[in-house]
Amino acid sequence: MSHRPTVVLDCDPGHDDALAIAVAARHTELLGITTVAGNVPLELTTRNARAVVAVLGLDVPVHRGSERPLVAEPRTAEFIHGASGLDGPALPTELPALASEDAVGFLIDAVRARPGEVWIVATGPLTNVAKALQAAPDLAEAVAGISIMGGGVPFGNVTAAAEFNVLVDPEAADVVFRSGARLVMAGLNVTHQWRVGRPEIERLRATGGRVAGFCADLLSFYGDAYARAFSGVPEGPLHDPCAVLALTHPALFESTPHHVVVELTGAHTRGMTLADLRGVRRAAPPNVEVLTRIDAAAANDLLVATLATYG
Ligand code: RIB
Ligand code: CA
Repeated sequence: MSHRPTVVLDCDPGHDDALAIAVAARHTELLGITTVAGNVPLELTTRNARAVVAVLGLDVPVHRGSERPLVAEPRTAEFIHGASGLDGPALPTELPALASEDAVGFLIDAVRARPGEVWIVATGPLTNVAKALQAAPDLAEAVAGISIMGGGVPFGNVTAAAEFNVLVDPEAADVVFRSGARLVMAGLNVTHQWRVGRPEIERLRATGGRVAGFCADLLSFYGDAYARAFSGVPEGPLHDPCAVLALTHPALFESTPHHVVVELTGAHTRGMTLADLRGVRRAAPPNVEVLTRIDAAAANDLLVATLATYG
């Protein structure tokens, strides 16, 4: 069973963010895209979001957001995404105009306009989302929920403890996880179950679609980067689309409610999303629906079918 949620996608394109945009545009009412510094600096994540909108032929506004974390020093991930943030395919030079330079204001206005209806899907550092929650204390109640690609239970990727999106801006993640908003978390423990390698990439190319070919070029670069950086195997986890599919195709996932906190001060654990897995009555009440399993084969089938709709 799929749903068609109303969504604002906050992202830092980023190869997997680009796939998340493609999936969100087809399976949600996508009100807008907001950008944040993350995989590459803000100018590039914003340019990349507009480039993906152009490639997909979307009529979706892009709003520029935060260029640095709340407190932490900026951190990027060119070693995975390349200098452009979308290395691999040729990128368009004719880009849609930027809708605004006020991503935070757009997030607040979009949620307030339709109380209880709008989800924020966050696939980058949580700086914009935290600023929106701080500027509008009513937002945690007014938003339908926040679906986050971030964290991991119990492991990270940048460090043994911390995942990139949370580690870039742990203070922002702490604001979000303590906000009281309904939270769904696609952490590395579930996103690493959906790895796309050569067979899946060739399956995309074989469809003959222009957008499928563009995404195959993205995923080929992305998989090779993961091989060099982590596993030696040319396959990349599709982190960000999980945060969209958790809302549009919940049957693809299993999940468990947990109480999750963000570590801010640990010498080795800063940026960790610590879930209380003890299962004891004295534990704090759950604040996050933690995704624990994905049907990766079905998710791949859905991705191929979705990209084929773009021609
Ligand atoms: O750790 C993976 C996350 O960090 C993904 O969202 C990827 O795009 C990067 O932003
Ligand atoms: Ca991302």
